[in-house]
Amino acid sequence: MAEKRIPESARARAAELRKNLNYHIYRYYSLDDPVVSDAEYDSIYRELVDLESRYPGLIEPDSPTRRVGPPPVAGFTQLRHREKMLSLDNATCEGELEAFSGRVLRGLGVGPADVEFVCELKMDGIAVALTYEDGVFIRGATRGDGEVGEDITSNLRTVPAVPLRLLVESPPRLIEVVGEVFMPEESFRGLNDERLRQGIPPFANPRNAAAGSLRQLDPAVTSRRNLSMVTFAVGFSTDPRPSTQWEILSYLGELGLRLGRNAAKVPTIEEAVRFCLEWQEEREDLDYEIDGVVVKVNSLGQQDSLGATSKNPRWAIAYKFPPEEKTTSVLDIQVGVGRTGALTPVVVLEPVRVAGSTVTHATLHNEDEARRKDVRIGDRVLVHKAGDVIPEIVKVITEARTGKEKPFHMPDKCPVCGAQVLREPGEVVTRCTNIACWAQTFERILHFASRGAMDIDGMGEVTVSELLTRGSIGDVADIFYLKPRDLFGIPGFKEKSVANILGAVDAARDRPLWRLLFGLGIRHVGSHVARVLAGPFPSMDMLAAAGEDELLEVDGVGPQIAESVVLFFGQKENMRVIEKMRRAGVRMAAYRERRASGGALEGKTFVLTGTLPGYTREEASEIIEALGGRVTGSVSKKTDYVLVGDDPGSKLEKARGLGVSIVDENEFKRMVGR
Ligand code: IVH
Repeated sequence: MAEKRIPESARARAAELRKNLNYHIYRYYSLDDPVVSDAEYDSIYRELVDLESRYPGLIEPDSPTRRVGPPPVAGFTQLRHREKMLSLDNATCEGELEAFSGRVLRGLGVGPADVEFVCELKMDGIAVALTYEDGVFIRGATRGDGEVGEDITSNLRTVPAVPLRLLVESPPRLIEVVGEVFMPEESFRGLNDERLRQGIPPFANPRNAAAGSLRQLDPAVTSRRNLSMVTFAVGFSTDPRPSTQWEILSYLGELGLRLGRNAAKVPTIEEAVRFCLEWQEEREDLDYEIDGVVVKVNSLGQQDSLGATSKNPRWAIAYKFPPEEKTTSVLDIQVGVGRTGALTPVVVLEPVRVAGSTVTHATLHNEDEARRKDVRIGDRVLVHKAGDVIPEIVKVITEARTGKEKPFHMPDKCPVCGAQVLREPGEVVTRCTNIACWAQTFERILHFASRGAMDIDGMGEVTVSELLTRGSIGDVADIFYLKPRDLFGIPGFKEKSVANILGAVDAARDRPLWRLLFGLGIRHVGSHVARVLAGPFPSMDMLAAAGEDELLEVDGVGPQIAESVVLFFGQKENMRVIEKMRRAGVRMAAYRERRASGGALEGKTFVLTGTLPGYTREEASEIIEALGGRVTGSVSKKTDYVLVGDDPGSKLEKARGLGVSIVDENEFKRMVGR
């Protein structure tokens, strides 16, 4: 079909809209100083989307509508940087900054009056290199090993602070700029809150969150992560560069790139030190995380004569802030019981603000850790945040002890159910031995129903606790047998809330297999491993029948996981709960159709081996189950058919030995009428 002719007026209007939008994006994201309201911006944006969808020929790579990008990719390709991206040497105290300046002066053979420095806040994010050709953003890469990084162009396009076109009339033919992509505090908190609600582990810090967001295979995910970026260097340019770092910063600003705030040009190293110490105190007031200050020699001529070692430039250094520590008092030491029965001592603290949030608890992890730290009730302690998020006791201030402090001992009875606790030899974890322990059951059910697992809306702490206490449920399968009267007993439950919960339970009968697997709480099977397992084992029966060797063949499954899976399905109680769920109509396979009755394969058991040219394992299993058959993992006398593909395994031998019918793909197609 011939391309629709584009009227000149449409072309001109699109160009104008694009230019306007790019300017407003720059005002908003690079300068934080918008000149139009969000609504006005939206209306310009919508007009452009509309125009481009009528005339797709108008779409250009720098159009702001291209920010929500192309479909996910399978992996990143490698990109070689034009100029090696160096990293920085660190200084952790005043003395090391002065030593740096000493090296600079000696290296240049000049006196202190001849060298100026530029101090920039060191954003805690991910270094990126952006390439612009004739002003258009064409490529973006991570730092990688400094020489070769990963091509993350599609993801960077979704970051609003990355201009798709430089704002100058005559841009360099080719320029590579260096910057740092980071996640502002507010976006970080929002993202982690959301992850916690969904039962997904939160990111440890904004840096990891930024890295995880940039390395998404699906740019649409990156685009929702509210990333930002600052730039601070020119890696390569076909145009002459300015002669100082200070001018580079204003040059980058003129190109329309976002700069880090609060940079300063200082005449002496003493002033640079002062700058570092000031920001060490004031870092908390920023709405993004910095992990230090970068001090650079201002003159690029001097930079060039100083040169670099194989890793670091000799003309710059990163002053790293020490992690923030505060003192507070220990009010109590409590012991929690988790879903696996693990007893965890938790220190209750007098609330104290550390690195941007109020800390009230710190875990001691296990008995050994508690003994090593010897934290006592009534102690004064020093706390910090590991990885800047998880509160941790650094040490006890023993000098402050009065003798009235109460030492902690791991209890020998479960603090919840009173059962004996046990610490296996060679293990660090102390566990409650009662599988029916209220706390364990509670945590297991809560996990099963959580957003990341079976996602049963309304099955939160209060509901689960009430149902458990009333005896309406005793394990995860009981959820699927709940009756309205079980719920009406809970204070505050009315017609509507009861109907909502029962509706949510009903919907959960049809969740994907991996969610069910993850929800079961098999040790070492997190949501990722659950997905990995559901691929080669697309039904509960297949996974339950799998031996350790078979499991170990799966990419991403190690001995710990394999052992734990086999152990789990080997326990009668677990199989009882699974069968109870099966009877309640819970889907036990990776595919959607539930077992039909009266199908052509009703009651027949299949085992698959080898690769079928025409179907994936999942598709073949889907067809069999849809026709009433069942797919299992290993051949036995009870197997009706072994479906054989190319390169079959030992299952074929076994089938022959047992006299089980062997069918190939063509025969299978006939059987299923395709
Ligand atoms: S200059 C050749 N300036 O810190 C010099 N780096 O530890 C390259 N960073 O890889 C770095 N803010 O990711 C420089 N204002 C800043 C920075 C900065 C953050 C990061 C950058 C670099 C790392 C070095």
